[in-house]
Amino acid sequence: MSFDLLRGANLDELHQRTSAKWRFYDPDVIPAWIAEMDYPLAPAIAETLHAAVDRSDTGYRWVGELPEALACFAADTWGWRLDPAQVIVLPDVLTCMAQAITHFSRPGDGVVINTPVYPPFFTTVRDIAQRTLVEVPLLRTELGRYDYDVASMEEAFARKDVTVYLLCSPHNPTGSVPSHETLMAIADAAQRHGVSVIADEIHAPLTHPGVTHTPFLSIAPGGLSAISLISASKAWNIAGLKCAQIVAADEEVLSKLQTSIPLEVTYGTGHFGVLASIAAYRDSVPWLDEVRALIASNSELLREMLARQLPEVGFAPPSASYLAWLDFGAYELGDDPAAYFAERAKVGLSPGPSFGELGLKCARLNFGTAPQILGEIVNRVAMSIDGASN
Ligand SMILES: Cc1ncc(COP(=O)(O)O)c(C=O)c1O
Repeated sequence: MSFDLLRGANLDELHQRTSAKWRFYDPDVIPAWIAEMDYPLAPAIAETLHAAVDRSDTGYRWVGELPEALACFAADTWGWRLDPAQVIVLPDVLTCMAQAITHFSRPGDGVVINTPVYPPFFTTVRDIAQRTLVEVPLLRTELGRYDYDVASMEEAFARKDVTVYLLCSPHNPTGSVPSHETLMAIADAAQRHGVSVIADEIHAPLTHPGVTHTPFLSIAPGGLSAISLISASKAWNIAGLKCAQIVAADEEVLSKLQTSIPLEVTYGTGHFGVLASIAAYRDSVPWLDEVRALIASNSELLREMLARQLPEVGFAPPSASYLAWLDFGAYELGDDPAAYFAERAKVGLSPGPSFGELGLKCARLNFGTAPQILGEIVNRVAMSIDGASN
């Protein structure tokens, strides 16, 4: 390892952080909920930010070379040749999503999502954009993995009111990475039914070693109205710096979006976010590779510990990112096991029901931490369940 990803990996030091992850729960709770990682910043990002502070470079954002840096990263990582001229920079992926839904549809239109899914998908579609949610649940395979139900999506796309599909690839919370063939089938169905596709690919840089992510726009047929939403925020842990990117499928989508996004929304982007994102895409891929290896080994550690200590928990190791979707249905913990664990195990997980009805009796665990902290989390959870302690 060339980066000391475990520097400062103890709870006393981590509790000195003041971000949402560390302040939401009382200090006796180990937080493993919101998608922040515990590793020290990539050195190139830290140096960029220190240098910006030193020159008091704290003004409004200037997009500068970010589109080119993203394009180089996408070409090197996924072989996807995106046009930097088709990149729009906004504060965060959820802002991009709300803007895009508003642009691609009208109030009351149906927006398809694959449940269980990241909770803001529900609120952004329903409460912010005032559209109708159309849920097409993921299918659970024999191995407990989650897969896309293309036939049911085709049916949903055929509905007259459905105009937008919100793809989450890789998928949060299940960690599924849809195959090339699945994405081709979805793109084809969307085009035949005139459905616009918004592909949230925020977790794409975090595929585990050996797993291939297919960028949606790299396989989308010409003329399909589609965009990809990308950000360095999850993979390099810079969510608080506020910078995300929309990549438009073509010039028509780009120019329409550009005219519909208010100027003040574009200026919500953080200048530090832009600088850090450039440093991430351009100079911090070796760091990311080590993080990907560490989270894959944490995923294996989690699998082993669960098999030993909590064999009835449903868990299919994710193919990307550091979020584990855990089904506690076999234990009598009520509909929201996260509430039980916050109280009884002093571990803060994300409540499963907030990911939709399929999340009842489930919880999401963030394992983007040190192996020893993950071990402590699982020990606490196991010991809090009667008769399931080690
Ligand atoms: C799938 C997905 N989309 C969007 C977001 C939010 O991203 P942002 O902070 O850029 O809005 C997250 C955060 O965890 C996420 O997991």
